[in-house]
Amino acid sequence: MEERQHESLARWERRWLAVVGVMLVVFVIFMAAALSLQSGHIGQQTARGTPAEVGNLDYFADPGPVELERNRFEVGLVAQSFSFTPSLIQLPVGAQATFFMTSRDVLHGFQVQNTNINVELMPGEVSSFTYTFDRPGSYRISCNEYCGIGHQNMLATIEVVDRRTYDQARLAQEAPEAVAGAEAGVSPSFVVGETVYNQNCAGCHQADGTGIASVFPPLVEHVVHVYQVDGGREYLIDVLLYGLQGPIIAEGTTYDGVMPAWSQLSDEEIAGTLNYVLQAWGNDALHETEFSEYEPAEVMAAREDALSPQQVLELRRSLELEE
Ligand code: CUA
Repeated sequence: MEERQHESLARWERRWLAVVGVMLVVFVIFMAAALSLQSGHIGQQTARGTPAEVGNLDYFADPGPVELERNRFEVGLVAQSFSFTPSLIQLPVGAQATFFMTSRDVLHGFQVQNTNINVELMPGEVSSFTYTFDRPGSYRISCNEYCGIGHQNMLATIEVVDRRTYDQARLAQEAPEAVAGAEAGVSPSFVVGETVYNQNCAGCHQADGTGIASVFPPLVEHVVHVYQVDGGREYLIDVLLYGLQGPIIAEGTTYDGVMPAWSQLSDEEIAGTLNYVLQAWGNDALHETEFSEYEPAEVMAAREDALSPQQVLELRRSLELEE
């Protein structure tokens, strides 16, 4: 090449470099403006350690909202493939909530519909930010980091309700005897299960057990039908312990969600959850023979099976379900 061409090339390189430099400055200005004028935020790192160490922090021992003083909340949340714990967070209108969140396994996202909340959840780190919920309603939480085959079903809900409704729900949770009138004759295990269900399962199967069309099957009626076939009682423990992956047919409809494994729950909690879903929402009246509640020992025994979600799917296909 000639001298002249070299010089022309070098000139264009400098021009493009200048363009890139200007773009960087413009982006930084935009980000600064968004953060200061539009109350944007950057997730703050508040702790770092091995995933196990972080998982043992106080916020995550019993994740969920804690009211420190009136309308000021601390909310612990743990993400794992493919769920959030808890999957249903209830807060009163006006609640200022500081979230402390981490992941048990891989990178997950935490994006809340109709808010500017969008945080990455990293294993071994605690992400934190504060948000005030001024408007009542149901806010859908989704994972926006591709985390595996069930990523698109990784959902949860924040429910912002008026103070009265909130207080009543707390009262029912803390003093189950107080609402015994409404739930006469339920066992302590059922009460444990109700809490576990509302925290972990209601985000997908819904608080009234009706599920979500074509993704999460209903538990109303259907779970009793599964329970009643040969092997159904044991199969239901396996579904909770090991999860289930792959399309299933329930009551003539195909569902293709992913049921995560819940082996991190205690034997009492898993037995309680099964006792709850098999008797709540009128399911208690559907049993052909008297239902005898699950015992924690049955769950403990099933932990030795060590199945994969695919094996649970095969197990389900081997059941003689009327589909
Ligand atoms: Cu978790 Cu995608």
